[in-house]
Amino acid sequence: MLEALGPDLARAVPMRAEDSAPGDTPIGRVFEHTENVHKLRHYFPIYQSVLTHTERMLEIGVDRGGSLRMWREYLPDATIVGLDINPKVAQYDAPESDIHVRVGDQTDTSFLSSVLEEFGPFDTVLDDGGHTPKQMISSFQYLFPRLRPGGVYMVEDVCANYWTPYRDQPESFVDFTKWLMDAMHAHYMQMKSVFQVMEGHPKRVQQVDVPFAATIIDRIEVFDSVVVVHRAKESKQLPRAVFR
Ligand SMILES: C[S@@+](CC[C@H](N)C(=O)[O-])C[C@H]1O[C@@H](n2cnc3c(N)ncnc32)[C@H](O)[C@@H]1O
Repeated sequence: MLEALGPDLARAVPMRAEDSAPGDTPIGRVFEHTENVHKLRHYFPIYQSVLTHTERMLEIGVDRGGSLRMWREYLPDATIVGLDINPKVAQYDAPESDIHVRVGDQTDTSFLSSVLEEFGPFDTVLDDGGHTPKQMISSFQYLFPRLRPGGVYMVEDVCANYWTPYRDQPESFVDFTKWLMDAMHAHYMQMKSVFQVMEGHPKRVQQVDVPFAATIIDRIEVFDSVVVVHRAKESKQLPRAVFR
C-alpha cells in the first residue's frame, strides 16, 4: 500500500486521540441521551447526510436495543426493524412503538426473505451485525437488490475487517466495495472507445449486457469505517458523451 501512495502520501506523520466536544448534529443529540447504544462519534454526521428519506429502516445487529430506540426518536414516522442472531434481543421487540425485532442470522437468506416479506421493502439498511466480510457481503448481496429504488445501504465498522478475529476470508468488505465500483463501470468494459457512447456517432452502441448491479448502483460513498451504497431511483441507462 505504502508504495502505491508514493513518497509524499506515504510519509509517516502522527495521528492523535482527541477528546474535544463532538460536533453538534440532531442525531448526535439523540445519541447523547440514549442508553445502551454503541456507535463511533464520527458516524453521526454521516447518518445525518444519508438518512433523509427513511420510511422503513432495517438495522442488522440489535445488541442492547439502544440504537433501535435512537432511530425511533430520530425518525419518528419510520418503521424501525432490527435483526440479530442472539435470541436475547427479542425483549426489544416493541410493535406498539413500531419497533420490530426478529431473531436470525444475517447470512441466512430465507430468514432475510421472511423479514422482507413482513416489513419490506426497506429504503434504509444499516449493517451493524457480526462485522466479518462473509457476513457483510452475503447480507449486502441479498438485501441490496431488494432495497427500494432510491434507497440507501450502509455498512458500518468496516474497520473490523482489518482485525484478525473478524477476518473470515481473504477479501474484506473494502475489497468488495472496489468490486462494486467496478460493477458500476461494467458497461465501459464492453466498449473500446468513447465513440461508443457519443451522441450521433456511427459507432455508438445501443445496448450492452451488464451485471444487474451496474443498473442499480447510483453512487458509493466511502468514509472512515462506513461504506454507503445508494440505489438508483430508476434503472440506469448508458451514459452519453457530447463532443463540441
Ligand atoms: C455491534 S453489535 C450491534 C450494536 C447496535 N447496533 C448498537 O448500535 O448499539 C453487533 C450485534 O450483531 C449481532 N450479530 C453477530 N453475528 C450476527 C449474525 N450472523 N447475524 C445477525 N446478527 C449478528 C450480535 O449478536 C450483536 O448483538
